[in-house]
Amino acid sequence: MAQPRFDCFAVTPPGAEGLCATELKALGIEAKAQAGGVAFEAIARELYRANLWSRVASRVLVRLGEFKCRDFPTLYKQLLKLPWGRFISPGQACGVRVSCQTSRLTHSGRISETVIAALEKTLGEASAASATEQLIFIRIENDLCMVSIDSSGELLHRRGYRKAMVAAPLRENLAAAILLKLGYDGSQVLVDAMTGSGTFAIEAALIAAGTAPGRLRKFSFMDWPRYRPNVWALCLQESQGQADAAVAILALDSDPLAIAAARKNAVAAAVDTRIQFEEGPMEELQAPAATGILVMNPPYGERLGDVERLRPMYADFGKLCRGAFRGWTIGWILAQRKFESEVRIGCRRLWSFSNGGIKVDIRKRSGQEK
Ligand SMILES: C[S@@+](CC[C@H](N)C(=O)[O-])C[C@H]1O[C@@H](n2cnc3c(N)ncnc32)[C@H](O)[C@@H]1O
Repeated sequence: MAQPRFDCFAVTPPGAEGLCATELKALGIEAKAQAGGVAFEAIARELYRANLWSRVASRVLVRLGEFKCRDFPTLYKQLLKLPWGRFISPGQACGVRVSCQTSRLTHSGRISETVIAALEKTLGEASAASATEQLIFIRIENDLCMVSIDSSGELLHRRGYRKAMVAAPLRENLAAAILLKLGYDGSQVLVDAMTGSGTFAIEAALIAAGTAPGRLRKFSFMDWPRYRPNVWALCLQESQGQADAAVAILALDSDPLAIAAARKNAVAAAVDTRIQFEEGPMEELQAPAATGILVMNPPYGERLGDVERLRPMYADFGKLCRGAFRGWTIGWILAQRKFESEVRIGCRRLWSFSNGGIKVDIRKRSGQEK
């Protein structure tokens, strides 16, 4: 018997759509990058694996249906036709996220109430008692209503290994996307010059080991009535990655608390033996090999008066790149464009995104450039 197929959409940070499509294709899934994410069709095993393996996606949605709708009675009637019972058990608490654009229906509160009323009619009373909440997404654009259900639960950047944290950690999926955009594939030597909570180093270690980033966590699809634990168990079996390789990842920070946090996180991710942690200033770093990839995520200095203090640090970083790390590929996060001239290395803008509300650029210098 043919297995049921899900019509899926992996939501990604803007600019990471292509990377996510490549990840899904590597899982044998036919995937098409679109603005904001990647569309694909999947059987249960592929949906589970997309959640388990994507390093860059934020969540994976399953599309339930779409229909034209200009009034609330039509919305209610159409919602009743959707296959809710495949995804939601009676008694499961649900949350509804609504977005409307250029449509007759604009009242998001009333749209949510209509969804909950349709669910109660189909499945019986929802209860707030269930431990996890199933998210439902309603998008209405030009009177076309698209209904999706979230298969991920917590956002996918929450891998489950971040047990300790120092200031301004990078989202794990953004760190992974930066590494992949820099061409990191686990075979190069990697140095994270300001490791903070260790995100770059840990994501790199997971890539190097071929370990699935989601293997420590739970997903919403596990609460679905037709969840197949035996299929998930098989997915998990192949998610562990390879045994340890020689250490080729160095994580440095001048703050001992950061090193302690990064180490704790690496232990939780079971990649601590793949990372060499060092406490010390970036300015004194020695290159551990002739070539490799150096990443740096400096403090943003967002507090008033802090920003100018960062100027010499950028100049020192430039010296490091022209000196000890000559010939290395460099990827660094630039929050204040006025400091770029301090670094004085030939580089280009690789990507831009918003990190905790601050717009940042990723700059790249290839190994051949000076
Ligand atoms: C924005 S945080 C890095 C966040 C990190 N990417 C993460 O995901 O947690 C900046 C880090 O740079 C460290 N730092 C600042 N100046 C430094 C220096 N001169 N040498 C080494 N580390 C430094 C700080 O201690 C802080 O942990």
